[in-house]
Amino acid sequence: MPFSRRNFLRVAGAGVAAGAVTSLPLSATAFRSLKTAPRTAAAPIRLDSNENAYGPSQKVIEAMSSAFNTANRYPRHEYAELAQRIADMHGVKADRVLLGCGSSEILRVAAVGLLAPGKRFVQASPTFETSERFAKLAGAEVASIPLDPRFAHDLDAMLAHIDASTPLVYVCNPNNPTGSITSRDALEVFISKLPKGTTVVIDEAYHHFATQSAGYSSFLDRPIDDGRLIVSRTFSKVYGLAGMRLGYAIAAPKLIAQLRPYITPENVNALVLHAAFAAMDDDQGVRESVERNADARHEFFTQATARMLNPIASCANFAMMDVHHPVDGVIEHFRKNNVWIGRHFPPLNTYIRVSFGKPREMQEFWRVYDLLPQKTA
Ligand SMILES: Cc1ncc(COP(=O)(O)O)c(C=O)c1O
Repeated sequence: MPFSRRNFLRVAGAGVAAGAVTSLPLSATAFRSLKTAPRTAAAPIRLDSNENAYGPSQKVIEAMSSAFNTANRYPRHEYAELAQRIADMHGVKADRVLLGCGSSEILRVAAVGLLAPGKRFVQASPTFETSERFAKLAGAEVASIPLDPRFAHDLDAMLAHIDASTPLVYVCNPNNPTGSITSRDALEVFISKLPKGTTVVIDEAYHHFATQSAGYSSFLDRPIDDGRLIVSRTFSKVYGLAGMRLGYAIAAPKLIAQLRPYITPENVNALVLHAAFAAMDDDQGVRESVERNADARHEFFTQATARMLNPIASCANFAMMDVHHPVDGVIEHFRKNNVWIGRHFPPLNTYIRVSFGKPREMQEFWRVYDLLPQKTA
């Protein structure tokens, strides 16, 4: 059955109708049938948004499906419980946790809560653009500092742009779109040199895919005692819940209290609250997700190398590589062939970003790649 809004409603309705006789809410079986619906001929292969191609684990789907009958209630109680559960996972108190409607909301509140006209926001280039967008909305000046030749943050160059008028710095680690990491040691030195009033967001959206990478270490797994640090994480990637919208920040209680008023009230929906508990409890699901990604990444590099391509070493669920063609035309070529790849990230004007999909999706990606006129460096 093709996945469409109409079918969703039909299956959901069937679940509810069945539930009237047996059990409410939407049955796990009905929900599963949505997940496993075959791709229609017209549906694109989506390698464009660094999503998890496999979706949430079965346990998470079951937790969500059994939460449908809580939809009429504001999930205030579960909200506090989830903040506590996340705090426990990271060995901190709940007053250090801020939940977001995706980690995008965390990036938004950090920008609008800390920046203002006349202030400067410092980030790498290229990097994930959401913080920059909200920094501009807050009226701040944006300084974008090119990554170094190894695609790590050029922390010395960033420091040179940071002064007392810089309340916020953004570090994406691993970095989107390059998939590269900035070493823990270098980041510690960088943080120690920041002015007293400068807060740094370390965006660890792709953390789980980087844990085996030399030089990488999460600021949540190995915390430092610094009140200027906000670490953001998301349920969109390893847990496969991008469509459900949940992220969070861990920071000092004072900073969390400063940002909390900017969060949308009741910003986390009832289904994802239930999903999140199940996702955090499902160690095997997380392990499988990480392993599948490692296999996909390995295969991607094997295929790229066979074509004399040289992707940037990836510590994430996507890779970026120079295809020696203007990227807009390449993106269009893939679109015409029903494969969506990542957007253009200036100044990397001949680089494409490709999220890792399922094996058959990646086979199609390479088939379409091979249709491009070949060009070498
Ligand atoms: C580095 C980074 N941070 C944050 C996000 C936003 O994630 P979400 O709002 O789904 O939690 C993304 C999304 O792709 C990302 O790449």
